[in-house]
Amino acid sequence: MRKLKVGVIGAGSISELHMGSYKSNPNVEMYAVCDLNEQRAKNLAEKYGFSKVYTSIADMMADSELEAVSVCTWNNTHADLAIAALDSGKHVLVEKPLSTTVEEALRVQEAVRRTGKLVQVGFVRRYGSNTQLLKQFIDNGDLGDIYYAKASCLRRLGNPGGWFADKSRSGGGPLIDLGVHMIDVCWYLMGRPKVKSISGNTYNKLGNRSNVKHLNFYKAADYDASKNTVEDLANAVIRFENGASLMVDVSFTLHAKQNEISAKLYGDKGGCEIEPELAIISEKYDTILNVTPQVNSLGLNVKEAFQNQIDHFVDCCLTGKTPISPVEDGVEMMKMLCGIYESAEQGKEIYF
Ligand SMILES: NC(=O)c1ccc[n+]([C@@H]2O[C@H](COP(=O)([O-])OP(=O)(O)OC[C@H]3O[C@@H](n4cnc5c(N)ncnc54)[C@H](O)[C@@H]3O)[C@@H](O)[C@H]2O)c1
Repeated sequence: MRKLKVGVIGAGSISELHMGSYKSNPNVEMYAVCDLNEQRAKNLAEKYGFSKVYTSIADMMADSELEAVSVCTWNNTHADLAIAALDSGKHVLVEKPLSTTVEEALRVQEAVRRTGKLVQVGFVRRYGSNTQLLKQFIDNGDLGDIYYAKASCLRRLGNPGGWFADKSRSGGGPLIDLGVHMIDVCWYLMGRPKVKSISGNTYNKLGNRSNVKHLNFYKAADYDASKNTVEDLANAVIRFENGASLMVDVSFTLHAKQNEISAKLYGDKGGCEIEPELAIISEKYDTILNVTPQVNSLGLNVKEAFQNQIDHFVDCCLTGKTPISPVEDGVEMMKMLCGIYESAEQGKEIYF
């Protein structure tokens, strides 16, 4: 197979998981990296072996040898960068969320249709080997009809600050940052039903809790405790056209005893858990069985999931296959995320 000339836009924290995975793929040529911060781009170009460094998107897009890019920048730039890349004839792997509004997401979808290039959305949890294993059980009917899912990602102290805490660049707080993953992994395993209505709540009660001492937490490089314009807790019930429902709650800060992550799905033949650990629940001969699949790791292996995500993107670019996280799913996800914010703002259930 020939080598795909790949570039990465945004040379911050998550970009290294993209770069490391591209480097491990034998069908990739490490071609270009771009960041507004030239030093950051140069450092990673040297570390991962990219031949070219750009600080201007226009210059990078004008490079006709570049074939595909990862977009690893602030959320508010995703849609415009993806569209610029598509219009320059490049395939795009865009980090989650696809955009910060439904309108922007639809513009990306339109650009995909106009250019015939592909967009893969970085719903990385779909690419975890346990997610794919569960999907096999679900697709073969082991859980029956899935009618309920419940997901939580509650941080008691985990507002990363910087652009994450600046709504104009992030589009929101824990919902758009963490909720996007939790909702997506459940929605994907539920078979991606069409959303019918949403009732959501958001709260700005605790702020970023930067006063808390004696506990470390992840901080963005440009952490600034004085700036925080995002919610600290969001919850929602999403009702789907097939009658199924999904409950979700996520926080950056909360008076919780400990951090907590869980994602569980319930069908009429069986149930399953993907977080915190893989489990399958069934019933046989009037007996409930809690099944523990014998796999390398029952939890999410982040590095492996990123590698699978990148390998899939490269394969789709080179062969013309459709990604398992296509632009249409990015659009549907933006409907859910924006619908939760809208319902919270209006204080009532909203219908699609
Ligand atoms: N899939 C995951 O699990 C996961 C985890 C973390 C972050 N992310 C996503 O990755 C993205 C980046 O997050 P991060 O934590 O790496 O942030 P970061 O702040 O560490 O890095 C972002 C980089 O983008 C650069 N940048 C911003 N706008 C740019 C532009 N127009 N052109 C060129 N460079 C630009 C910044 O200078 C910065 O270096 C976000 O969308 C975030 O939601 C995904």
